[in-house]
Amino acid sequence: MKNFLAISGSLKSTSTNTSILRFMIKLANPSVKIDLYSDLDALPHFSPERDSDKAPEAVEKLRKLVKNADGIIFCTPEYAFNLPGVLKNALDWCVSSGELNEKPVLVLSASPLNTGGEKALASLQMTLTALGTKQVAAYSIANVNSKLNSNKEITDEETISVLKNLLQKLSDHIENYIAEY
Ligand SMILES: Cc1cc2nc3c(=O)[nH]c(=O)nc-3n(C[C@H](O)[C@H](O)[C@H](O)COP(=O)(O)O)c2cc1C
Repeated sequence: MKNFLAISGSLKSTSTNTSILRFMIKLANPSVKIDLYSDLDALPHFSPERDSDKAPEAVEKLRKLVKNADGIIFCTPEYAFNLPGVLKNALDWCVSSGELNEKPVLVLSASPLNTGGEKALASLQMTLTALGTKQVAAYSIANVNSKLNSNKEITDEETISVLKNLLQKLSDHIENYIAEY
């Protein structure tokens, strides 16, 4: 059984990005368990001084979840041509502690615009490179509102197929990595 952690960059209760991750939980095959991280809003603002001896509880919890996950799936909106500050804040908390180093990740963005949040995706990828992650694949979902129904489920067949393949790619990457070592 593989264990993935899904992290949405949106705090919005009706978030399309979070909906995509929820849908991926249902798409995943039975050998994969995906937990949706729900405490992004509980993280304090990052400061190196707060990152000294013992980090705040919400931070310790995030670090433990990241450490214990075989892979991470990010899905982020774009705010002002970049990733939302709340997501960058969470990543800043994981710099010194190193849990993301070598961690296999899928990097996704979604936007109602036809650009798909590609600038946020690129920015997130740059930060994840700094953190030493293994980026297995990246994908941006354009015109996202036309691909979800009123229950926020993905109805677009092509997107479903791509996301299924990405989940498989992440699983395969982890299996091959284990086989190599
Ligand atoms: C402050 C703010 C800035 C935004 N900037 C962008 C942007 O630069 N590019 C873009 O594609 N969408 C932008 N949007 C629109 C978001 O893509 C849209 O609100 C999206 O639904 C947010 O994702 P969510 O549904 O997961 O919360 C912005 C939205 C807000 C609230």
